[in-house]
Amino acid sequence: MRQKYVVGNWKLNGSLPGNETLLRAILAGVKPHPGCHLAVCVPAPYLAQVRGLLEGTPVAWGGQDVSRFEKGAYTGEVSGAMLRELGATCSIVGHSERRALFGDADAIVAEKFAAARKAGLVPIFCMGETLDERERGVTEEVLARQLDAVLEKSGAAALDGTVLAYEPVWAIGTGRTATSEQAQQAHAFLRARVGKKDAAVAARLPILYGGSVKGSNAAELFAMPDVDGGLIGGASLVAEDFLAIWRAAVAAG
Ligand code: PGA
Repeated sequence: MRQKYVVGNWKLNGSLPGNETLLRAILAGVKPHPGCHLAVCVPAPYLAQVRGLLEGTPVAWGGQDVSRFEKGAYTGEVSGAMLRELGATCSIVGHSERRALFGDADAIVAEKFAAARKAGLVPIFCMGETLDERERGVTEEVLARQLDAVLEKSGAAALDGTVLAYEPVWAIGTGRTATSEQAQQAHAFLRARVGKKDAAVAARLPILYGGSVKGSNAAELFAMPDVDGGLIGGASLVAEDFLAIWRAAVAAG
């Protein structure tokens, strides 16, 4: 049985007082659970605050992106080692917003994945097709291309201990969720493709679904055999919604 994960992606949201209110409300509603992990990926300037609030609690914290560089003249970048120093255990890598708006092509995502691993972070490696790609029937081709970039650079063994996330771009922030069958199909495809290289790694690899997950649809999504939890944007900013998703993951585990 794979572990379940619920990971919040705050994106470009937050404020010192708002973060504290949100995290205190989340902490009031969670208990440690052996089969289910909870984390929030926050804007880098808030990592120190979040560490202060979450250290010693069941909620882990992480970054939303990792520089592909370790150090040097790269203005604006945040390295994996810096995230680790602030207690982050994971980081999102290859989110579709970074791919679409900030030039994170497959090869760059592969470098970021490798940099995150090297720094000792668990990369949460995102993949997903646009609406146009789904309508053209090339979803699996797109997922294969995105996955293969990392497999080719780092090898299947490097996926062990990491987390994948399937996030159809057309479902992110749109209120339009993939059906549980659509999610299952994509997750099974990704697992099978990793499995061609390393069956054991594929069998234990957590694959999260992201894209308009809410308390009301989480249970159905998490009931699918290859859906091991969720990467949650909008609903992670509202304690009660995030907790409802967490409870669905615990119940599914
Ligand atoms: P959403 O975002 O839950 O707001 O759709 C998910 C994500 O982008 O990770």
